[in-house]
Amino acid sequence: MTTTITASASGTFDIGGDLPVTRLGFGAMRITGAGIWGDPPDHDRALEVLRRLPELGVDFIDTADSYGPAVSEELIREALHPYRDDLVVATKAGLVRTGPDQWHQLGDPSYLRQCCHLSLRRLGVERIDLFQLHRIDSNVPREQQFEVLADLRREGLVRHVGLSEVSVEEIEAAREIVPISTVQNLYNVGNRQSEAVLEHCTEHGIGFIPWFPLAAGDLAKPGGPVAEVAARHGAAASQVALAWLLQRSLVILPIPGTGSVQHLEENVAAAQLRLSDEDVALLDAAA
Ligand SMILES: NC(=O)c1ccc[n+]([C@@H]2O[C@H](COP(=O)([O-])OP(=O)(O)OC[C@H]3O[C@@H](n4cnc5c(N)ncnc54)[C@H](OP(=O)(O)O)[C@@H]3O)[C@@H](O)[C@H]2O)c1
Repeated sequence: MTTTITASASGTFDIGGDLPVTRLGFGAMRITGAGIWGDPPDHDRALEVLRRLPELGVDFIDTADSYGPAVSEELIREALHPYRDDLVVATKAGLVRTGPDQWHQLGDPSYLRQCCHLSLRRLGVERIDLFQLHRIDSNVPREQQFEVLADLRREGLVRHVGLSEVSVEEIEAAREIVPISTVQNLYNVGNRQSEAVLEHCTEHGIGFIPWFPLAAGDLAKPGGPVAEVAARHGAAASQVALAWLLQRSLVILPIPGTGSVQHLEENVAAAQLRLSDEDVALLDAAA
């Protein structure tokens, strides 16, 4: 029997209460050159990955102006514009690039506003579905950064606002100024430092987008708990990592990234993997 691979098996989540996405999404950081800098090694292959997304039922793409920079957003437009009505593209602003693997915070409000206009232009849209502050810049009063996000939302240039790498206290400070629809923090089966933030998001219906979702760290070592659970299901360790996230909380929206169609299909197939209570207990005990 052949099973159709579809992200829809992961269920849906309404971003900000009114923007539905299929929970298993795609992270478009890995379709650039090495060090998330410049063009991908194979332009056509990157387009192929992106064009496979709607066929697999993936309707949520995460990108950032800084991926390339500009390269990821431009490829998304080239591959998928005009966009299907159900496609949601989330982007980010607030990091500048000076070379491969070099990232610097920049939260000056006029800069963030310019980033928004340039992302609108590159993506070819009149409104950004989800605009995320990539990092709160510690050199700029955070209220100023939240206020420009609120202004952009009021002006209709962005529909929903998200934050990245934040604490519960920072989420609450931002929510005094602008509704926060999503939070994107490092989180995976092997790294649960953002557990308190996840709990807060679950409680408040805020979408939680775990980045580096495939990483399982030491848990994935041969003989480790991820490998054991994977063997029980005849699945890959990466699929166990994704299935665990999908079962961990209904607000979790994993965005695995890849430059390979084969890996993409494998990741989307994880939406169909159901871990037993025993599997989850084994993974939790080891974490
Ligand atoms: N907010 C932030 O600060 C932040 C930071 C980092 C990332 N992000 C976002 O989160 C997304 C995901 O994060 P990430 O790319 O760091 O981590 P990830 O999705 O967990 O891992 C991506 C890596 O895993 C490999 N991979 C993907 N599928 C695989 C599979 N089925 N089998 C084996 N290897 C596989 C990819 O290489 P191949 O290309 O060879 O498949 C790539 O090296 C990014 O695309 C980006 O949108 C956000």
